[in-house]
Amino acid sequence: MLSQTMEKAFNDQVKWELYSSYLYLSMSSYCNNLGLAGFANWMRMQAQEELFHAMKFYDYIMERGGRAIMQPIDAPPSEWGGPLDVFEKVLEHEKHVTGLIHTLADLALDERDHAGSIFLQWFISEQVEEEATVADLVHKLRLIGGEGQGLLMLDKELSARVFTPPAQA
Ligand code: FEO
Repeated sequence: MLSQTMEKAFNDQVKWELYSSYLYLSMSSYCNNLGLAGFANWMRMQAQEELFHAMKFYDYIMERGGRAIMQPIDAPPSEWGGPLDVFEKVLEHEKHVTGLIHTLADLALDERDHAGSIFLQWFISEQVEEEATVADLVHKLRLIGGEGQGLLMLDKELSARVFTPPAQA
């Protein structure tokens, strides 16, 4: 059974993961309007991945005998200053989420919630991967100056992204 503290903290994280999905959907639409269909696809796949994260927390709360309580989700921004700015904001957001996951992991230790600690390990590794992927894209965008033929080539690369939920997750 989850402690009330852990139940509240996991519920807050469901909200954050849903907000992340909402943010990336907004970014997808923005990129689509710029004519960058590949960027829009990448963001759309990222939104699906965040929804998967939210559901992973949601299911876990109930698996531990808790109750998933839906909370209001803030409206994300809808305008950015071009493709580089968008990805810089993604990186900023993912760093924020990493901080939230680490705070949750600290809380699980404080609460002596060993099962919760194991559950959170997957998210700790996932955040390392997410930050590395986005940092690489920010680096590439800075190299090409966020425009021209390089941008179109990157757009083509990003159009190939698909989201497949991990089999054992
Ligand atoms: Fe759910 Fe991008 O972290």
